[in-house]
Amino acid sequence: MGKDKVQIFDTTLRDGEQVPGCKLDTKQKLVIAQRLDELGVDVIEAGFPISSPGDFQSVHEIAKLVKNATVCGLTRAVKKDIEVAAEAIKVAKRPRIHTGIGTSDSHIKYKFNSTREKIIERAVEAVAYAKTFVEDVEFYAEDAGRTDNDYLAQICEAVIKAGATVLNIPDTTGYCLPEEYGAKMKYLKENVNGIEKAILSCHCHNDLGLATANSIAGVINGARQIECTINGIGERAGNTSLEEVVMILRQHPYLELDTDINSKLLYDTSQMVSQKMGMPVQPNKAIVGSNAFAHSSGIHQDGVIKQRETYEIIDPHDVGVNESSIVLTARSGRAALAYRAKNVGYELTKLQLDVVYQNFLKFADRQKEIMDEDIHKIIETSDVGIAS
Ligand code: KIV
Ligand code: ZN
Repeated sequence: MGKDKVQIFDTTLRDGEQVPGCKLDTKQKLVIAQRLDELGVDVIEAGFPISSPGDFQSVHEIAKLVKNATVCGLTRAVKKDIEVAAEAIKVAKRPRIHTGIGTSDSHIKYKFNSTREKIIERAVEAVAYAKTFVEDVEFYAEDAGRTDNDYLAQICEAVIKAGATVLNIPDTTGYCLPEEYGAKMKYLKENVNGIEKAILSCHCHNDLGLATANSIAGVINGARQIECTINGIGERAGNTSLEEVVMILRQHPYLELDTDINSKLLYDTSQMVSQKMGMPVQPNKAIVGSNAFAHSSGIHQDGVIKQRETYEIIDPHDVGVNESSIVLTARSGRAALAYRAKNVGYELTKLQLDVVYQNFLKFADRQKEIMDEDIHKIIETSDVGIAS
């Protein structure tokens, strides 16, 4: 049986850009949008056009530039927002309006001082109005993670009738557990009349470090779109990380789900977004962190040198990383030292290695990491008949 496609909705330029202090200008956004299109994302959420003239301009320019992906603009369930977004994206090959409203009891009471019935009316009005501008309308039920499932099903059914093509179920506060979020998707699949006319979408925040796990639980239970950002950047603890969900689906083929992402561009794209945003990638970040394919303890190094797969589940080339690295520290063993020495031109005999290794340990106890230039020094100051 063929794999089911999961659409990748990238919101690096909208939710991702909500990171404090990481503002991008239009030129930078265009470069990133171009790269996202090459990467193979299905949807680029380019911004929130009503939020500022600059954001309107960026969304408009991106809509003109992008060749393959759908270009989407965010709105509140407010007529003026929808009109402005429609204007910004009207030049796109595939335009989408993403409109919605808070649906949890706390949003209804404290943000809107409203009732569940009135919120459904506003949602339906917004979708119907957006539909007068574009065919493709995505509806978000903000704080769906804390919204009662029965009410969520009612609002989903109503907006599908009004023409919504995608239903975004955001865990806005990053509250849900994977089982809970997956069960929510399953409930909607089974209890919303007309659900076959729309795609369910996961939009998870990372406040408890569960954004990726929740998104995967969502697609296992019937969602077919994941909203995510490069490096998982976004408001507070961030959004679901694009590179993580893409590689999880790829590494678990029995799920029979896949995306159209060209994974070989992942590392480079991560670096590009990090540099443009001035936001470093944490070294231990899954898939794209500088330590993601680095091995430093002797036992692991010995295994990886013998056979990469003993300690690596992903071939680094598949995500655009040249090779795994063997980092030399005081925890490294002889196999790692011999391997790195060979890389810089020394083929050591077993006896030579024994002597050089003792010298190496003295150096390694004094510094965090042994670099190539240190290896030369260590070998040449060891009494093994190799001198400069
Ligand atoms: O987290 C959220 O609920 C959002 C919506 C605006 C889609 O970002
Ligand atoms: Zn969000």
